[in-house]
Amino acid sequence: MAPQLARIAELTEPRHLARLFGPVQGVTRATLATPGFSGATHERLTVTLRDGRTRALVLKTIDLSRDFTAVRTLDRVGREARFAAARRSAVWRMLRSPYLDWASERPRVAVLMEDLTDHLLPDVRRPLERWQEDTVLAALARLHARYWQHPGLGAPWLARAEHLEGMLIESDDGRPPLGGSVLSDRVRQGWAALRDRVSPAFMGRLHCGAQALRAEHASLPRTLVHGDAKVANFAVARGEVWAFDWACASAAPPSHELGWYLAVNASRLTRPKEAVMERYRVLLEEQLGAPLAEAAWSPLARHAVRAGARTLLWSKTLALEAGGQAARAEWDWWVTAFEQASRA
Ligand SMILES: Nc1ncnc2c1ncn2[C@@H]1O[C@H](COP(=O)(O)OP(=O)(O)O)[C@@H](O)[C@H]1O
Ligand SMILES: [Mg+2]
Repeated sequence: MAPQLARIAELTEPRHLARLFGPVQGVTRATLATPGFSGATHERLTVTLRDGRTRALVLKTIDLSRDFTAVRTLDRVGREARFAAARRSAVWRMLRSPYLDWASERPRVAVLMEDLTDHLLPDVRRPLERWQEDTVLAALARLHARYWQHPGLGAPWLARAEHLEGMLIESDDGRPPLGGSVLSDRVRQGWAALRDRVSPAFMGRLHCGAQALRAEHASLPRTLVHGDAKVANFAVARGEVWAFDWACASAAPPSHELGWYLAVNASRLTRPKEAVMERYRVLLEEQLGAPLAEAAWSPLARHAVRAGARTLLWSKTLALEAGGQAARAEWDWWVTAFEQASRA
């Protein structure tokens, strides 16, 4: 990890920025309104250099004591800052880094990034283009293959799979409760609505508790997962993928990433879910350099469905109650797939 050079306020000082870009004339700052829900704040910086050129940057500040994902996944170090600091990590041979600098004044951490606005995937509820989907899936497969059963996965600062999979479920393992935010109220409302529609046995398998989750995960391969493979957390250009928002980075089965990808990006998929899973499988096999036997793939495919349902079926149920054919089809798919995936 690179030594820490700065306090958060210093990150944006001309004297400090000059170390990155050369002599600085001035810096202007503006709040960046973002679609994220975690509670982090973002600012856009325009740095004017003495030679007249400008650089556009984004500063993200996270308060680990308040940030929803940090609290629920026990992020005490600022995982995103760890990734920003690890400039020579192999992660950055699989994906491109947006990070230029970082600072920590715990419980707050901040990362300074390139402004990737021009390469962000547009935040709209319609499918990506096929090449964009393939590029993102390939990047995830590269990351997963690179860290497949890697010894570094024991790092205590990475999130654990059960925290990720139980992030939106009231915990039974001593973690802080869901809390009283707008998001947690919606989550509780969604689970209650689901409970009215499915059997107690279904709910029992869905909200099975941390110990049962650990037992499920123990039989699956582990890798490094980004943890929030929402399309909005990537930028794509010329076949390359920048990945930011590493707050949920975990040592977890790769299927967690696949399940969350399918669930959170439902309106962005260019293929039916089964075909996205197949595509990911092919890309993963390519990267692992060997085919995954059915006996190895099938538990991963089933876990992907369980992970997607556990993290987002509350939201699919709220959408169902709001009406519409697409929401009905989406809900039906997850409920049927979860039943099949939990039976086997
Ligand atoms: N480096 C960046 N360049 C351009 N836009 C960014 C950058 N980082 C974040 N954003 C925008 O802000 C949004 C939220 O940022 P993110 O880091 O994912 O925070 P959150 O934890 O709130 O999801 C992103 O989806 C993107 O639209
Ligand atoms: Mg985000």
